[in-house]
Amino acid sequence: MVKFTQIVRAFINGIARSKLSLVGATMTTASFPILLIGILLELFGVIHNQYFGFVLYMFVAPAFIIGLVLIFLGLFFFKGKEDVSVFTHEYLSEKLSVPENFIKVRKLIFLATSLTFINVFVIILLAYTGYHYTESNEFCGQLCHSVMEPEYATYSNSPHSRVKCVECHIGSGAQWFVKAKLSGTRQLVAVVAKSYATPIETPVHGLRPARDTCEECHRPELFHGDKLYVKDKFLSDENNTHVQTVMLLKVGSGGYQGSEAHGIHWHVAEENRITYTHSDWEREEISQVTLTKPDGTKVVFDKHDGAVPPEQQTYTREMDCVDCHNRPTHIYKTPEDAIDEKLLLGAIPTELPYIRKIGYELITREYGSHEEAKDKIATELRAWYRLKYPGVVNNNMPMLDKAVSGVQAAYLENVWPKMKIGWNTYRSLRGHQGNSGCFRCHDDEHETSAGETISMDCDACHIILAEDEANPKILETMQGI
Ligand code: HEC
Ligand code: HEC
Ligand code: HEC
Ligand code: HEC
Ligand code: HEC
Repeated sequence: MVKFTQIVRAFINGIARSKLSLVGATMTTASFPILLIGILLELFGVIHNQYFGFVLYMFVAPAFIIGLVLIFLGLFFFKGKEDVSVFTHEYLSEKLSVPENFIKVRKLIFLATSLTFINVFVIILLAYTGYHYTESNEFCGQLCHSVMEPEYATYSNSPHSRVKCVECHIGSGAQWFVKAKLSGTRQLVAVVAKSYATPIETPVHGLRPARDTCEECHRPELFHGDKLYVKDKFLSDENNTHVQTVMLLKVGSGGYQGSEAHGIHWHVAEENRITYTHSDWEREEISQVTLTKPDGTKVVFDKHDGAVPPEQQTYTREMDCVDCHNRPTHIYKTPEDAIDEKLLLGAIPTELPYIRKIGYELITREYGSHEEAKDKIATELRAWYRLKYPGVVNNNMPMLDKAVSGVQAAYLENVWPKMKIGWNTYRSLRGHQGNSGCFRCHDDEHETSAGETISMDCDACHIILAEDEANPKILETMQGI
């Protein structure tokens, strides 16, 4: 007759006999307490270290699960088999045939269920906290620090700094979840193997269609009206003269409550499906644009002299938010915008003669690293003012110090030599910088067979009320001055 204690012993023997199970048991026993305490510390927010979660979920948790699997394999398929499965079979058939012994069987079942229960509980806890961990900003943006530093820094300075990375990069739904985890795993490997591209390639061709993600929060078909757009600039003269461009941007709507789609957001209307063919990875060279109307009629705009040789590969894409808002959060400024913003905010004092000119010159030089840039900007700027304006700076050292940190910041927030991100590596498509952006299609060169073109008329998108004027009248009128 087989005793209950014997079956426990058989399990232990089985584990001891099979090397596989032994390794598994060691892994599980060692990782279990670390895991449990670690998860609790994480859940209650005791530990805020980005590496803690990484070690916990990427090493300890897999060790625990692999350990369990090894124990099981060893016991039922390898050496431990003789001890356990034969034994269990014998034990059960013996006990089940004698009604008085049912209590023993119950004990065994109780033991087995509680062990399973504990394991299942830990695994569910793991799945839950591990899932939240891999969806967190710290995992996406901070862990691979040097690689993601530019994306994280620009994101943190942007209007979307409260939106989690995953809300744009993954969105909801199981299909994209799986895709994202697979590509995430690939990226982790790339970071470890240092096989990632510098700069990180963009546009991100695997990005989920933006309408699925952006429209969780935004409704561009709503009427946004005309948006007053004021752009502040500073001239490179002695006084760093402040000038402004003022215009009305015709943002419009995608058709809302009976109003017709119009203005810039006309493209996102339900009834306007726009696809385009481009011949380069960057989507700059657009050879054909097709507008499909709800009744199925197509309007095709071809760029004749930009015709692609038939052997060259082309790509087709449906236009969405990211064809204009490609930089909603990873916003890299142009050097002009970067320095002008610091002047406008007062981070660089405008009283310092020629600071716009010298600052701009310094930030557009090539530096090997952030440290080098900081050093050189500081020494050069100080040297220049000591030489040219000793009177101004000797009486006001704090002003020069402020200017130094302002100019440094303009550089540090936009350029990362380590990731080969220079000025204009990642350009915005929202306007028409350097004939890109809107002018990829709106260039009067994409024509239908009837000779209609996609308009390049300056007033189609905005009405310019003042251009590079100091104290524009229109703003004074609006402010009632
Ligand atoms: C508001 C939406 C949004 C949020 C939030 C967001 N991203 Fe992005 N991200 C984008 C878009 C859009 C692109 C570029 C699309 C394109 O041009 O292909 C992008 C591009 C990237 C790229 C490729 C490099 C580049 O700049 O083009 C990386 C890497 C990246 N994001 C990482 C992150 C990380 C890490 C976070 C969180 C810290 C994050 N993103 C948060 C929308 C977002
Ligand atoms: C989780 C919600 C959320 C998602 C997803 C999201 N946004 Fe936003 N977005 C916001 C919020 C909130 C603001 C306003 C921020 C503020 O004004 O402080 C904003 C602001 C904006 C603005 C105005 C920015 C400005 O300069 O004033 C634009 C444009 C925009 N989002 C585009 C996008 C695009 C394109 C996407 C998809 C790639 C997207 N958003 C995804 C929440 C979201
Ligand atoms: C054809 C280019 C284009 C497309 C496509 C486009 N937008 Fe815009 N959108 C603009 C421009 C230009 C502005 C005005 C500048 C700004 O506020 O960023 C704007 C403004 C906005 C604003 C701010 C409105 C305000 O009142 O301040 C939001 C939010 C926005 N867009 C979201 C979206 C979303 C979401 C999509 C995709 C469904 C989208 N846009 C598609 C060009 C576009
Ligand atoms: C992929 C090509 C493409 C890009 C990029 C593009 N557009 Fe368009 N846009 C079109 C097409 C096609 C039309 C329809 C032209 C027509 O029917 O005559 C259009 C029409 C318009 C209209 C007129 C809408 C109306 O009321 O009829 C405006 C305004 C406009 N675009 C603004 C913009 C702005 C601003 C940008 C850049 C931020 C931009 N577009 C980028 C393809 C594009
Ligand atoms: C297809 C739409 C479209 C057309 C056509 C267009 N623009 Fe623009 N333009 C824009 C948008 C959108 C912006 C805003 C860019 C931004 O959000 O930063 C802009 C910005 C500008 C600015 C301010 C840029 C700056 O940073 O100083 C000027 C100046 C300008 N446009 C001039 C023109 C002139 C001149 C024409 C005619 C040749 C023209 N635009 C045609 C869409 C258009």
